[in-house]
Amino acid sequence: MRRTVLARRGARVVGVDRSRALIQSAEHAARTGTARFVLADVRALPLASGRFDGVVCNHSLNEMRDPRPALSEFARVLQPGGRLIVLMLHPCFYGGRDRSGRRFDLDSDRYFSTRRLEQRFSVSGLSSPAPTVLWMRPLEAWFSLLADTGFCVQRLREPRPPPRVAAEPWWHENFRKPLFLLLVAVRQPPK
Ligand SMILES: C[S@@+](CC[C@H](N)C(=O)[O-])C[C@H]1O[C@@H](n2cnc3c(N)ncnc32)[C@H](O)[C@@H]1O
Repeated sequence: MRRTVLARRGARVVGVDRSRALIQSAEHAARTGTARFVLADVRALPLASGRFDGVVCNHSLNEMRDPRPALSEFARVLQPGGRLIVLMLHPCFYGGRDRSGRRFDLDSDRYFSTRRLEQRFSVSGLSSPAPTVLWMRPLEAWFSLLADTGFCVQRLREPRPPPRVAAEPWWHENFRKPLFLLLVAVRQPPK
């Protein structure tokens, strides 16, 4: 959807996902316009180097046990000064849930480890048919990964619902702590 908005504003947009269903759904939503969608792994992007001025990675890095190859690929396709925008689960607050749905307490032992979470998501009474595997790591690990792959973090934001939405029962129940982290990082010139 966001890619479609960018395309309508004249950007030449390429959407990438390794899920055929996601690509088909994005193509259906875009229908017309300049966005194109590619079935590929972001750890090996079928795209030329240094040709993009922005990469938006929305809720995908938490699905990777090792996000470094993906970040390296984002750096490769960006021109120097290009921006990477990453939205992810908030490493400082998102503890995950056990099989019975009970929230884990995020103490310092858990926080400073690389944690594997396996859980189903439930929204509006619908539960995902298969569990999702997520990887959580501390905030300092994300900053190190970004610096090591050629980025400098320019901005950190913590998206949250507006008060009207936050008052809705689902958000009231589930948004007890900050859930999301948005980082804007600038591709540094190669040394
Ligand atoms: C929570 S969904 C977010 C979907 C989409 N990015 C969006 O903005 O709506 C996570 C997506 O990451 C994709 N993904 C995970 N690892 C990937 C990889 N290595 N290469 C490409 N896509 C990947 C999954 O296929 C899944 O569609």
